[in-house]
Amino acid sequence: MKSIIVNAYGGPEVMKLENVEKPTPKSNELLIKIEATSVTAATTMMRTGTPYFGRLFLGLTKPKVKTPGTDLAGTVEAVGADVKDFKVGDKVMAATDLKCGAYAEYICIGEDELIIHQPENITANEATGIIDGGVTALAFFTDQVTIEPGQKVLINGASGSIGTAAIQLAKEFGAEVTAVCSGKNAELVKELGANQVFDYTKNELEKSGQTFDIIFDTVGKLSFRKSKKYLTAKGAFLTPVLEMGALMTMLFINPFSKKKLKFAATGMRKQDLRMRDLLKIRDLLATNKLKTVIDKVYSLEEMQEAHKYVDSGRKRGNVIIKVA
Ligand SMILES: NC(=O)c1ccc[n+]([C@@H]2O[C@H](COP(=O)([O-])OP(=O)(O)OC[C@H]3O[C@@H](n4cnc5c(N)ncnc54)[C@H](OP(=O)(O)O)[C@@H]3O)[C@@H](O)[C@H]2O)c1
Repeated sequence: MKSIIVNAYGGPEVMKLENVEKPTPKSNELLIKIEATSVTAATTMMRTGTPYFGRLFLGLTKPKVKTPGTDLAGTVEAVGADVKDFKVGDKVMAATDLKCGAYAEYICIGEDELIIHQPENITANEATGIIDGGVTALAFFTDQVTIEPGQKVLINGASGSIGTAAIQLAKEFGAEVTAVCSGKNAELVKELGANQVFDYTKNELEKSGQTFDIIFDTVGKLSFRKSKKYLTAKGAFLTPVLEMGALMTMLFINPFSKKKLKFAATGMRKQDLRMRDLLKIRDLLATNKLKTVIDKVYSLEEMQEAHKYVDSGRKRGNVIIKVA
């Protein structure tokens, strides 16, 4: 089968398309013919091995896992003798996290891993595309804060993978959503439900004088220190990006301040929590309350191009690799 193989950290050119042996499922595993996988910001960070502390998990000098790719959708082609809840022909969606392996034509996944049936009303591209942003945004809105109906939520980086999911989820929780993006993405975020849009290239947040109960800086471009003035008295600032400034702020945060900064590595949470969120995302997809924004679709052969595009930091929603 065809598979992307990496033997070093680096730019998109470290990913080579090779022929490798097709895997065989163990008794508790499913063999999945992958139809689609995604190029997420996380997979590009795994490719570069940055930030460096990530190498403690990924491999100190080179990647431990040779086939990258963490999210996928496909069809069950074979099942091991002990598999109970899946059968040949089932459409599934899955996240493999640090085990990776999704940039290939086939993968074996244990029935007890993060794998669920795909809703019938969506495509494989839509199924794989929503996993990263959808599960991440939902985790923040479930574990880090509680959104009360009518609360004001600001989403920075609203046109990205987490951002496009976060707008829809915050609306689903009843929030009044302000999306921050560049002018070219204003229509997109309005279509997803944003009540108000600020263009970050025109400093419209700074000029607005408004405050928010929750600021979700999905792309790590604001800072808690500078954004405190946009938070209500008990407001929360959420970030999925742990850069040094945020880390230092968290360490030295004023214990008497009611304004909070919250970071979470959502992919490192226990599997039962991740499964809870993946199932909730599936329900929202199945009832058309959540949709996947797809920017570009590439083939396995075009993986390097796809990574270059995601590295640009300009993607709108999600970038998909159509495998089969
Ligand atoms: N902690 C966790 O559990 C976790 C999980 C998943 C991802 N992450 C991290 O979260 C971050 C975001 O991931 P993502 O996939 O959502 O990002 P993404 O899709 O790559 O973000 C791209 C979007 O960001 C917008 N953008 C760029 N600069 C901006 C700025 N200054 N202000 C507002 N928007 C801006 C771009 O719009 P324009 O082209 O208009 O600028 C583009 O649409 C990444 O660092 C990723 O590694 C963390």
